This record gives sequence, structure tokens and C-alpha cells, in this order.
Amino acid sequence: MDVAAHRTQANPKAAIVTTCVIAALAGLMFGLDIGVISGATQFIQSDFKVSDRTIEWIVSAMMAGAAVGALGAGWMSATLGRKRSLVLAGVLFIAGSLFCAVAGSATILIVARFVLGLAIGVATFTAPLYLAEVAPERVRGAMISTYQLMITTGILLAFLSDTAFSSTGNWRWMLGVIAVPGVFFLLGLFYLPDSPRWLLMRGRRKDAEVVLVKLRGDQAIVKKEMDDIDEQLKTRQHGLSMFRENPNFRRSVGLGVLLQAMQQFTGMNVVMYYAPRIFKDMGYDTQAQMWFTAAVGLTNVLATLIAFAFVDRLGRKPILYAGFTIMALGLGIVGTMLGLGVDSRGEQYFTVAMLLLFIVGFAMSAGPLIWTLCSEVQPLKGRDFGIACSTFTNWVTNMIVGATFLTLLSGIGNAQTFWLYAALNALFIVITFWWVPETKNVTLEQIERNLMSGKPLRKIGQ
Ligand code: BGC
Repeated sequence: MDVAAHRTQANPKAAIVTTCVIAALAGLMFGLDIGVISGATQFIQSDFKVSDRTIEWIVSAMMAGAAVGALGAGWMSATLGRKRSLVLAGVLFIAGSLFCAVAGSATILIVARFVLGLAIGVATFTAPLYLAEVAPERVRGAMISTYQLMITTGILLAFLSDTAFSSTGNWRWMLGVIAVPGVFFLLGLFYLPDSPRWLLMRGRRKDAEVVLVKLRGDQAIVKKEMDDIDEQLKTRQHGLSMFRENPNFRRSVGLGVLLQAMQQFTGMNVVMYYAPRIFKDMGYDTQAQMWFTAAVGLTNVLATLIAFAFVDRLGRKPILYAGFTIMALGLGIVGTMLGLGVDSRGEQYFTVAMLLLFIVGFAMSAGPLIWTLCSEVQPLKGRDFGIACSTFTNWVTNMIVGATFLTLLSGIGNAQTFWLYAALNALFIVITFWWVPETKNVTLEQIERNLMSGKPLRKIGQ
């Protein structure tokens, strides 16, 4: 191992780029998983002749699996290590995709989607953690943003691949083909070093040093980083006991849970999972439904870039206000158009444009920002616990949204369903005002001091 480290020592930049690209592929798989089902549901429904209720189960079994996977991932990444957890996620991802492709009944497909979800739950907890631990300090922020961009790129690729397969109507290929990037991910993982921080947690100093030399090159930087990690490791994680004893920590955990529930109840994933169905209700044929869905995916990627450009300049709250307002308007208008009847070409295009406006609202704000805020508001000693709670909430609320959309459409009507989500987005403007702190240009230590001194949540960033 020493020899290998020596060999790559000459090029730490290449080592770090390769490492981060491979780990960021986990974000791509997250996106593929979210996006792939939307184009497949109508073909699955006519093949298995199942109700809307069953389709909702097929869609949301993945989120149930992800919630369970995210819960287990904290323990797994601490004991097995980050790298081995990612390998397990890669194996489950490939197995889950192939299992979906060969499912002989709706029930088996539900089980297969659950397995796929387990993979994503583990990967969505472990990959950002690993990235934060191996990336050098100065590119850490960019690394996490890249991860969000990979998610949206994954969604887009899944939409495009579904579009390509839609002329044949073969949903098995749609669901099976995402095993291919999974194989690349798995093969790439064998080149990944273990996380130096995890190695130090396990007392493997020598191995940690070898990895750091490979990634950083400079011996002085390695020494400083090892000292810093040692120092941080003295702050042991006491999440659960702190949660029981400290009401201020309960407030930040509550805030993380609230933020993730808000992100999901914007209704974004309604469009991610059911876009073709929504376009069908606007009067489009199958091919047009698929192409517009691809346009949704592209808009999502491009608007995510807006967030990167403004988040550190304008701050979190102004962007969230703008995002929730745009989303409330977009969905409110889509609902109104569906209520009035979308008949002419002009009305159809206008309604699609309003749905795309909603996507812009999400991707420039709540998409990336909620993840950022959730990690910023937790105190160091309880950070893992706090983030695990909010990530778990993300998947549970994601499941609720996915599992109720079609029922809402038939229960209260198309227009009313979109109005309901528009109203929720309007409510989130108020919640942002009362409870969400502005964390731009504030150190995490300052946020923690304010939280622990009992300041109101919206003021902990001041
Ligand atoms: C959300 C996902 C969503 C994706 C859309 C992420 O931030 O957590 O639920 O599907 O953004 O781009």
C-alpha cells in the first residue's frame, strides 16, 4: 500500500478528482431512481392491468426502502465504513434494477422497488458524508453542490432514456437499463480509498496517513489535517442522549424535520413521478408526454445552476421566498387551467410553461437549499443524529406525496389537487419567515452558540 501511495503521490489532483467523480455517481443513481418510474407507469398499468392505487404503491415502495436504508446507513457507515457501505449500495442498486426488470407481477415489482430504495437510502446518507470527508477544505462546498447537480442530471437521463424506450412501450428495459451505470459505479468503487476520517475513527493511523498522502500530496497538509481530525474526533457524537436532555437541540432537530417536510410538500416529486400523466390530462399524446417530461428534467438541471450562482450572494431566505412564491404561482395557474379546461394549442403550451415555471422555482431554491440548511443548523455533537432525522423525514414525506397523488386527483379533482399544493407553498413563505434562519456568511460555531443560548430559530444565524 505504501508503494501505491508513493506512486500516486505525484498526482494528488487526479486522485481527488477520480475519487470525487466516483462518489458523486451516487448522486446520479439517486436521480436515476427518482426519474425512471415516471415514463414506465402507464405501460406497467396496461401490462399488469392494475389500479391507480397499485401504481402509487409501485412508485412509493422505493421511498419506503430509502427511508429504511437511510436509517440503517448511519450505523453501517460507522461500522463497515463508508466505502463498503457504498459497495453494498451499488450491489443492491444493480440487483434491484434487474429485479424490477424481470418482475412477473405488481407485487413482485413493489418488492423490487423496495430493494432499489434500500440502495438509494444507504447511498444518499453515505455519499455526501464520504465526499465531505475526502474533499480538500477549499472545494468542499462545490463538492456538495456538484452532488445536487448529479441528482438532477440523473433524473434528466432517466427521463431521456424512458423517452427513447417509450416508442416500444417496453417498461422492463426502462427499469433494467439503469443497472448499467450501477455497474460502472461499482467498478469505480474499487479504486476509491477508504475515508481517512473513518480510518482514524477505527484507530488505523497508518492507513489514514497513506490515503491522505495519496489525496493531498503535501506532507505538511497531511499532518495538519490528521491533527484537525483528531481534534474533531474528541467531540464524540451524542445525538440520542442530547436529544433527550437538551431542548435547544430538539429545536434544531425539529427545524431539520420541518425543512425536509416542506421540501417534499412543495409537490416537486408529484411532477418527477407523474409528469407524463399530468401531460396526458392536458391533452397530449404519449410521445409528446415523454418529450415534455424530458423538458421538465432539463429545466430542473439548468435552474439548479441558478441556485449555485446566487446562494452565497443573496442568502438562503430571499431565495426561498422567491422559490415558494414562484412555485405557488406556477401550481395555482396550472390548477386553474386544468379547472377551466385545456383545449386549444395555446392553452396547452401555456399550462406546460407554468408547470416548467414551478420546476424553476423548486430547483433554484428548496431543491439544493434545504439540504444545505439541514446540515448547517445542527450542533456538531448532534450533527449525524440531526441529519439522519431530517433525511429520514425527506424519504417518508416523499413517500406520502408519491403515494397520494393519483388518489387526490380522482378524489378531489385535478384543479383542486394543484391548488392544494399551491396553498402549501404559500404557507411555506410564512413558515420561512417565522422559523427559518438566514445562515449566509455565518460560521457553524456561531449558529451553534445562538441555538444553545435559546435564541429564536429564525435568529440563530445572526
Ligand atoms: C429532492 C428530491 C427531488 C430532487 C429533484 C432533491 O433535492 O430531495 O426529492 O426529487 O431534488 O431535483
